Amino acid sequence: MGGVRMTLYFASILPGLEYVLLDEMNQKVSEVEIIQIKRGKVFFTTSSIDTCLHALRSADNLFQVLDQFQLGPHKKHLSQLSGRIASLDLKDMDHNSLFWINASRKGKQTYSRYELAWAAAEGIQRHYPNWSLGTNRDNQVEFRVDLEHQNLIFSLRLTDPTFRYRNQVRQFSRAALRPTVAHSMVWLSDPKSTDIFVDPCCGSGTILSERTAYPVNQIHGGDISESVTRIAKHNLEHTKVKINVWDARELPLSTNFVDKVVTNLPFGKQISIDEDLGLFYRYVMNEIARVLKPRGRAVILLGNFQQLHVEVNRLGMVCLEAYPLSLKGLHPTLMVLEKQ
Ligand SMILES: C[S@@+](CC[C@H](N)C(=O)[O-])C[C@H]1O[C@@H](n2cnc3c(N)ncnc32)[C@H](O)[C@@H]1O
Repeated sequence: MGGVRMTLYFASILPGLEYVLLDEMNQKVSEVEIIQIKRGKVFFTTSSIDTCLHALRSADNLFQVLDQFQLGPHKKHLSQLSGRIASLDLKDMDHNSLFWINASRKGKQTYSRYELAWAAAEGIQRHYPNWSLGTNRDNQVEFRVDLEHQNLIFSLRLTDPTFRYRNQVRQFSRAALRPTVAHSMVWLSDPKSTDIFVDPCCGSGTILSERTAYPVNQIHGGDISESVTRIAKHNLEHTKVKINVWDARELPLSTNFVDKVVTNLPFGKQISIDEDLGLFYRYVMNEIARVLKPRGRAVILLGNFQQLHVEVNRLGMVCLEAYPLSLKGLHPTLMVLEKQ
């Protein structure tokens, strides 16, 4: 007798943060088996996909793998893709009519990712003659085709944009983080109900908002820009978060007061500050090190790893982990630090 074949899923995440998601899954989902980790994707099986849909906050999207097979590199092979998809068992989805297919490809093929998506769409339409192609914004069912060299994965997206944008009417400032990235940072701070938590450069409050998903003692945030703090106040209206207009180089907080500092310092051209970035990091790091309790943790996303490294050594802090990321065309680093 053959074993029961478990449904395979994958979660997409910002490349570089795969192991943060893995940790979140292992801690939040009791029945989960990690199958494989690839750049930006964690493949897993579970009997608790509903728990994943409700509880995971670092993942951008969740997908169910519908089929995996080998596909050749030439245009003539695309008809095999259409045929294979046309013969898939997708019966319980036939109440929907507008669909969309996203495709990605890696390797040497003589077709584009658009031709790949088109071939998959032909397969869907052969299967469901009444379905029609929507757009990436207007659809009821969304599929993905991911081709890496000859290995093709065809999947169904289980989450819509409200999953990563938290189902809320939120406003974002120009340099706002994705909530899923903000969550990964919060997760790396190891949230505890006794935490006094601070984001000294909070912008529109994405990190603070993610922190409210877990029990906490106090949460404070601030930004030098009054207009940005108005957005943060709006976003955090019905929470216990206290938002201030302040200068992170001179925080109105007592020495050894804070358990966790999690922040996204300005980097690249996304935000202008009124002085040299190196000096800015120096002053802000002085303040972070001052307000943190001994063994307090700081999780910091910033553009220039080297500059911060110098400050971390100078202040006698220890770098527990560093994650190089790709974000908005830049390559910032996420650092997890501990005050000694
Ligand atoms: C990268 S953004 C933070 C974005 C935020 N994580 C969000 O999701 O909206 C950096 C923020 O640092 C703020 N900032 C710049 N200089 C500052 C200073 N001296 N004190 C406090 N905040 C400052 C900027 O106004 C900006 O909102």
